[in-house]
Amino acid sequence: MTRVASLVDELTFDEKLELIHGTADPDGMATGYIPPIERLDIPPLRFVDGPLGVRVEGESATAFPASIALAASWNPDLAHKQGMAMAREARAYGQDVLLAPGMNIIRVPHGGRNFEFYSEEPLLSSRVGVGYIEGMQSAGVIAVVKHYVANNQETNRYAVNAEISERALREIYLPPFRAAVEEANVGSVMPGYNRVNGTHMSDHEFLLSDVLKGEYDFDGFVVSDWWGTESTVGAATAGLDVEMPGDTDPYDDLFSGDADDSDDSSIELPRGMGESALFGEPLREAVGNGDVDEATIDEKVRRLLRTRDRFGHFDDERSDGALDTPEHRRLARRIAVEGTVLLQNNGVLPLDDDTTVALVGPNADTAKLGGGGSSEVSPFTRTSPLNGLREHATEVLFERGVPPIAESSLFDTAGSNSNESDSDASLDAAVTAAETADCAVVVVQDDATEGTDREDLRLPGGQDELVARVADAADRTVVVLRSSGPVELPWAEDVDAIVASWYAGQADGDALAAVLYGDVDPGGRLPVTFGRSAADYPTGDEAAFPGIDDEARYDEGIFVGYRYFDREGTEPRYPFGHGLSYTTFEYGEPTVERDGDHIELTVPVRNTGKRRGSEIVQVYVHEDDLALPRPDRELCGFTKLRLDPGERRHASVTLDRDALAYYDEDDGWTVPVGSFTLLVGRSSRDVRGTATVEM
Ligand code: GLC
Repeated sequence: MTRVASLVDELTFDEKLELIHGTADPDGMATGYIPPIERLDIPPLRFVDGPLGVRVEGESATAFPASIALAASWNPDLAHKQGMAMAREARAYGQDVLLAPGMNIIRVPHGGRNFEFYSEEPLLSSRVGVGYIEGMQSAGVIAVVKHYVANNQETNRYAVNAEISERALREIYLPPFRAAVEEANVGSVMPGYNRVNGTHMSDHEFLLSDVLKGEYDFDGFVVSDWWGTESTVGAATAGLDVEMPGDTDPYDDLFSGDADDSDDSSIELPRGMGESALFGEPLREAVGNGDVDEATIDEKVRRLLRTRDRFGHFDDERSDGALDTPEHRRLARRIAVEGTVLLQNNGVLPLDDDTTVALVGPNADTAKLGGGGSSEVSPFTRTSPLNGLREHATEVLFERGVPPIAESSLFDTAGSNSNESDSDASLDAAVTAAETADCAVVVVQDDATEGTDREDLRLPGGQDELVARVADAADRTVVVLRSSGPVELPWAEDVDAIVASWYAGQADGDALAAVLYGDVDPGGRLPVTFGRSAADYPTGDEAAFPGIDDEARYDEGIFVGYRYFDREGTEPRYPFGHGLSYTTFEYGEPTVERDGDHIELTVPVRNTGKRRGSEIVQVYVHEDDLALPRPDRELCGFTKLRLDPGERRHASVTLDRDALAYYDEDDGWTVPVGSFTLLVGRSSRDVRGTATVEM
């Protein structure tokens, strides 16, 4: 008999219940905690947030760039490295489970948690998330992929019902979670707070049991979001395995504080907060009166213990981890650099070291670590744009221009890094500095947080006027955009360069200076479409977002992001996949080889510029003779090349038949017979060659 089977046999019913709902961590460090069963040598289980770095109460850890910046690197190997580093830091604090990655599709361009997610594109989200999870779990920490599924908005997040067609679920919203399970063998899945087609995700038997545990053969454990368990019998029957936080309320010192000393007024409070565990006494009663079989409880315990066994919790070889190492610091900087997207550049970049700079921006003297909410991290070290540029430039004049942009926070981690001196913000002083220096660098930012969606895509706090006034006065103007996703850029035609660095984490200013001065090539490509306004997106309509009477209709179906812009023929400000390098690339003719279901596309790429640069070759598939409506093109593969000046290499992208398939609600996954055009390019709109393949 296996160790797990014998443990399940030996556990009393009380002990089984203890294992499947949380309680307070006596050390006060873990976000979620399950006590030990000393009698059977089962150690305690500790869960900790979050996707951008380890958040342990009152402690510090490496603050990596936001997830959307990692996705903008289009580099799964880098994601793997981040996963490993974060696992080491979690182990250093004795934590066993990291509540990451967030892999929800970015459907709403001003979604409050977009910075914690990867992309509008399921394939890119899957590739990056799989790398991240494999890295994390290879270092001995259980990853929890979240928030399963279609948790795409913060407004009304505990009640909103996402009304979605099965085809859209299968082709857009489920694939990242399917990849996490089938490719990365993720140890745990966290359902979202929301409903899908009328049922709360914690109680969703079809999606938890039939799809996730059945079709995808997920053998780990499903852990609820915090107070995200809708019912006892419903959740226990549907396939929820562990309830968090259970009998405690780690935020109570926060939410029960005086309203005026924390801006949590913007964050909706969790619905079930402070109530006792639904998987405690109520579940005992449910088993007692026959509403839930004890066998169902055994299956939950088995899944939990089997996963813990897989990660060595019952042996002694647990790693001790490592915190804030030089390697982790270098990695945080590398991700920030590779995630930086050069949106436009008329040659003003890279800067020369002897260029005098007017650094303008309300928060340019603070690092933009991340957004508000459970993903907040307090780093050991951080570099602001001001400090980063001062390392490079001979002279940097600094002017806020407008008052600092407030940064929403669930805790006070981020608050401590901005000097709240509104008085020194003066537009005129910023304009004068811009007139004086050789080049103005304007650092602007949005404010995003869990629990609330942004108003729209506009920059807050008078920053648009600041950019316009500075651009008018300066010889050369570079804008640095530190955002959680797409932003309106009304002044784009009036400036010389725009760099999107997202929320770049602790290495913010260091990575920014390296990019602006050309020490490194900006390696990023957009993981989201930049429309001209929120109205350009399928969520422009109230019924779609935030929904009416608690129901958000996903009537756009599979036409999300660039798929929608293509169908509508809307010209985006910057298309999905867009990003410039400091050098240029030339593509040769793509060729395709097909061997049964294995398709390989090869295309020669040459660096035709004077500097080494990186290029992300993207392949999109277009079906020529449509049986069902399909997007004009869909990303089906990509690869990253680094080329020296003049160097020519063959990029190769392999596809399998699934890359060409669509989901038919009657027949399931279908690969039509017929011809497909493969579009090879630098973005979803910048196509450099095509090839056809017959299926
Ligand atoms: C939060 C978030 C989830 C987080 C959890 C623990 O409400 O939705 O992402 O991991 O609760 O903080």
